[in-house]
Amino acid sequence: ITFYRKDYTAPNYKISRTDLTFTLNPSRTKVASRLEFEVWDHSNPDNLPLELDGEDLELDQVLLNGEKLDATCYTQSHTGLTIHNPGREGVLEITVYIQPDQNTRLEGLYVSNGNFFTQCEAQGFRRITYFSDRPDVLSQFTVTLIANEATHPVSLSNGNLIEEKKLGEGLHMTRWEDPFPKPAYLFALVAGRFVCQEETVKKGDGKPALLQVWVEPGNLDKTDFAMQSLKKSIDWDRERFGLELDLDRFMIVATADFNMGAMENKGLNIFNTKFVFANPELATDVDFENVESVVGHEYFHNWTGNRVTCRDWFQLSLKEGLTVFRDQEFSADMMAEGLDEVQADSARAVKRIEDVKVLRAAQFPEDAGPMAHPIRPDSYQEINNFYTVTVYEKGAEVIRMQHTLLGEQLFQRGMQIYFERHDGQAVTCEDFVGAMETALQEAHPELDLKQFRHWYSQAGTPEVSASWTQTNGQLVLTLKQNCRPTPGQAIKPAFHIPVKLGFVEKASGRDVPLQLESNTNALHGDVLDFTESTQTFVFTGLDKPVVPSLLRSFSAPVILQSAHTTDDLIFLAGHDNDPFNRWDACQKIYGKAILDIYLQRGLTDGANTQAAVQIVENLLKDKQLSDGFLALALQLPSEGTLLEAFDGLVDPVAMHFARTTLRDLLACTFGADFKAIYDARNLTGQPYSYNAVAASQRALKNVALAYLVAAGADEELNVAKAQYAASNNMTDRMAALSNIVHNGPGNPPELAEFFERFNNEALAVDKWFMLQATVPASNENVNTLQTVRELLKHPSFTLKNPNRARSLLAAFAMQNPSVFHSHSGDGYALWADLVIELNTINPQVAARMARGLDRWTKLVPALQEKAHKQLERVLDTDKLSPDVREVIGKALDAA
Ligand code: ARG
Ligand code: ZN
Repeated sequence: ITFYRKDYTAPNYKISRTDLTFTLNPSRTKVASRLEFEVWDHSNPDNLPLELDGEDLELDQVLLNGEKLDATCYTQSHTGLTIHNPGREGVLEITVYIQPDQNTRLEGLYVSNGNFFTQCEAQGFRRITYFSDRPDVLSQFTVTLIANEATHPVSLSNGNLIEEKKLGEGLHMTRWEDPFPKPAYLFALVAGRFVCQEETVKKGDGKPALLQVWVEPGNLDKTDFAMQSLKKSIDWDRERFGLELDLDRFMIVATADFNMGAMENKGLNIFNTKFVFANPELATDVDFENVESVVGHEYFHNWTGNRVTCRDWFQLSLKEGLTVFRDQEFSADMMAEGLDEVQADSARAVKRIEDVKVLRAAQFPEDAGPMAHPIRPDSYQEINNFYTVTVYEKGAEVIRMQHTLLGEQLFQRGMQIYFERHDGQAVTCEDFVGAMETALQEAHPELDLKQFRHWYSQAGTPEVSASWTQTNGQLVLTLKQNCRPTPGQAIKPAFHIPVKLGFVEKASGRDVPLQLESNTNALHGDVLDFTESTQTFVFTGLDKPVVPSLLRSFSAPVILQSAHTTDDLIFLAGHDNDPFNRWDACQKIYGKAILDIYLQRGLTDGANTQAAVQIVENLLKDKQLSDGFLALALQLPSEGTLLEAFDGLVDPVAMHFARTTLRDLLACTFGADFKAIYDARNLTGQPYSYNAVAASQRALKNVALAYLVAAGADEELNVAKAQYAASNNMTDRMAALSNIVHNGPGNPPELAEFFERFNNEALAVDKWFMLQATVPASNENVNTLQTVRELLKHPSFTLKNPNRARSLLAAFAMQNPSVFHSHSGDGYALWADLVIELNTINPQVAARMARGLDRWTKLVPALQEKAHKQLERVLDTDKLSPDVREVIGKALDAA
């Protein structure tokens, strides 16, 4: 079945109050509900049915206004319960039974390591009880939890704890009241054996709030950083957005079994342990960074998502795009904290580069593939498949463009208008843009966001080409845009693209002031409104030669093809006053060099290769660069990015070898420099601390190590082995181990040592599996597919735990192109086996993994044929879930 955005209709009834009583039992939990309902709209006719959603529920009884309902008064189906003629208002009481310990899908109420957890977004609540499970039905919840005191001593739900008592017979109860009306997807309960770290903080109004981070016993030594991150998030949202914590109690609970990253349930955020646990021994710097950002993300949802929520799931980006934008800004501000202006600028650029890397490696392929959709999709078969990099990360880019067009001050004014208009409501993306447009027009009545709205309705990554001529003090800049067809959208009107730009004077390296002669109202500060399919802009006052720097800070999510010569790019890589574009100029040169090697089968003395060498030489000589920036600038584009950027059918194995060739050439050319960088930062024995500066030192050191080991012999491998032996933190340990495993002989002793050391730490064991599944084809000592097949039988492996499943399956099928696309087709066959097996265990995770062959039509014909066979095999599977069916069906439609 396909659902369409245009089919939205309001519900027939409101459910103003919801009382739930859970009698928690792993194999048979009783859920009793009391729902106060009334007609949605008082002009509604009297006899509308009350439609409740419900799946896999054992219905015990239904009472309407205290009277047991006769079975003729309702209709029960596989997907719900319809009450005929319930009256204009009343009270419905429903009792159902569910089986949490049989729930391997991890949607609704499930058991993890004996403890109860819920995941209700998007449509998990209907697996708990019959309810109007749609985000526009907001209800005030009271929840009573009855549980075994010995096995489940802690029980939590949303809001405030209002009562707690022993019931006898080994049972106890807690009662929770959430003062804020909310949709069912924000409901949560947790019960089991937990310990917590807690702290009381003062809110803006001086009132106290209790903050808690709950984990299973034995993990309290991993919660400090999450607690700090939560406190920073609270302060940041107050200071930058003027948004205050609205609860007396805010809880985070970690579980090892979780489909996604985390969930923003009101006052009771539930997290994948991966985004809570962090201490130096177990978490890498990247893990620390992710914990801070995900804790922030979920906290920020309290306003953007919970106080103002989505009318329907097509509007998902309303909360996700906006909240990702907010968490990106939070991380950037945290990275820049305490630095001087220049350093802060560079730190913010590092964060921006990291975010753009994700966009190019994951979102651009999605936007070019069979699952392409606008950030506000028009249709879906399974909503869980639309928690995508497009809705999240491109959604954040669309918010960022509005921030660029309005500026911080007007953007904040727009946020204020948004909350004034919509606090407590379930609204649409249009309502958000409307608020921003009002803010814009308060200051600039002549401007609007009319054309800008295409970013919400049109899929695909626009391609922008830029060319220019500079003569007689004038520079004529011509921009063209085009967006290729995506499923269901053949032709698209032009986008409103904010192009942030500058002209860098060749002689001085300084930015020249911008003066626009033609259509002068298109320039706002350093941002150009590019709104037509072809547009020419005449700039004046440019007597000395300049190099244009376009799309600074990546001001729009587009693919830019510029007329820059190789010399221009080398110049920008060294002198652009926008650090993002300095990095991007490096990437462009590396990309061209790799492409030449790929197309010319290994040729390494071409002009682009020489330019890449020149770039690296300049970078290594530049003593002004921060370690964090240099670490990024020295890294070659990822294989995924290269494959996507290539216009034509592509062989991922050959692309891997082309990239490896350039890497090895750079490694050999600059071996001494990399060794010097490494030695200067290899501070063995120094205590570890996670902070932005120390983390970027380690990042640069480990980039240097990767170059050293990649091109080196035993001697360099021994550097990695020494680092492994000496490391006192997970960052250095993992960097060393991955270099050993990815480049050295099979089964190095360090791999066994690592497992021995950490086999009780699930997240470290995930890393252990992941490392082995990502050994590339260029390591001739290892047959990675064979390793993966063997690891599937390892006693610590299970497909039931999403993190563990991903540690092998996502690792080899999505992070290791040269092995996955092996010419034998064996990678595809193994992928299909696993998708089929996961399909029956956990459709949501299976559908994620099923995305591995999204871009199969971009492969060379021999690979396409093998991929096609496996896609068909998955589609022909018995009992294929709607989740996997949508992904595979659309992939096959692309043929
Ligand atoms: N709202 C959550 C977040 O972004 C993600 C929930 C995803 N759940 C799902 N079933 N797809 O923080
Ligand atoms: Zn989110």
